[in-house]
Amino acid sequence: MNRRHLLLGATATAAAGGGLYLAGRGPSYSHASAPVRVEMEARSDADMRYLVHHAVLAANSHNTQPWLFGTGERHLEITPDLRRETPVVDPDHHHLFVSLGCAAENLSLAALAAGAQANIGFVSTAAGLRVDLERTRETRDPLFAAIRSRQCTRADYDGRASKPADLASLEQAAAVKGCRVMLITEKPVMTNVLDLIVAANSAQIADGAFMRELKSWIRFNAASAVATGDGLYSACTGNPSLPSWLGNALFERVVTAEGENAKCVSQIRSSAGLAIFVSDENDPAHWVQAGRSYQRFALQATRLGLKHAFLNQPVEVEGFRLQLARLVGTGDKRPDLVVRFGYGTAMPMSMRRPIADVMTALR
Ligand SMILES: Cc1cc2nc3c(=O)[nH]c(=O)nc-3n(C[C@H](O)[C@H](O)[C@H](O)COP(=O)(O)O)c2cc1C
Repeated sequence: MNRRHLLLGATATAAAGGGLYLAGRGPSYSHASAPVRVEMEARSDADMRYLVHHAVLAANSHNTQPWLFGTGERHLEITPDLRRETPVVDPDHHHLFVSLGCAAENLSLAALAAGAQANIGFVSTAAGLRVDLERTRETRDPLFAAIRSRQCTRADYDGRASKPADLASLEQAAAVKGCRVMLITEKPVMTNVLDLIVAANSAQIADGAFMRELKSWIRFNAASAVATGDGLYSACTGNPSLPSWLGNALFERVVTAEGENAKCVSQIRSSAGLAIFVSDENDPAHWVQAGRSYQRFALQATRLGLKHAFLNQPVEVEGFRLQLARLVGTGDKRPDLVVRFGYGTAMPMSMRRPIADVMTALR
């Protein structure tokens, strides 16, 4: 399902007796979420709060924020927080390691802006990543400026094509060792990928365990999004806010394959193209690289005024992943991520937990 572009349209509004739960559409959500993306000054080239502040703004699956940052004098450890795993949609922790890669990329851009080169290494699946900071000249990479405004925009776009020079610059920005990005802008190929998205989406919606896990990460109103600081807030996808009890009660009834597939169709048809990220090897170290590549792509897209969003259904259901690999010609390589891009209007920004909740000082 277009995740998580759900939810709850007219049916839910009617069921709520026309009385939408509006808390958070106004100042309370903007007020509570403002510190998440506040501009910060680095106090030194190893200002850990500054680095983590930017790292957590990265994309991450279901917005579970499955990371912990151990901080030393001049190094950090980014470890998986397995209390925040999503075992149904992500049984092998692929998305979790991609999410760590996204965070590591933001962190490395922030480190450069603070005057440090971040040397990122994969340690192990349990220990995650180690980042060593090496003093260098303060450099504001142009991608750094886009960290606070990047978002996944789960809406229809306006159908305009991207300029060839912009496509080339996206490819260039996404170039990361151990992973490649394939940009698809030909409509017939996009339609073939759409067919797989729709088929995989239907399979996921028919899977009760998938739906239960997804529902547990939906935040049906601002109060709930702000209280947890995580999850998928309905307003970020243009959906009405509802009391949590009502959202939970209606979820399976209003999220139907028919309705969600129709959204996928109009979203792909209105997009300028698709980006498929493919790592060289199918292992956690390379999934991290795919995350880094996506994050750089997304930041460059943001700079160019392009919106983007994931449609990962065919990489999440194994049978469809193989079909996607065959369709776009990745050979024996695993397609990691499917992202659409195009021109459109921004949605409300997603929440994050306070950085104090994810930082611990290393001895
Ligand atoms: C590995 C990974 C998989 C994701 N899969 C999907 C997806 O299939 N559909 C979707 O709408 N968003 C997907 N997302 C986007 C996240 O839900 C999003 O990053 C998160 O909610 C935070 O929102 P933001 O990116 O706008 O800050 C994925 C993100 C990552 C890193």
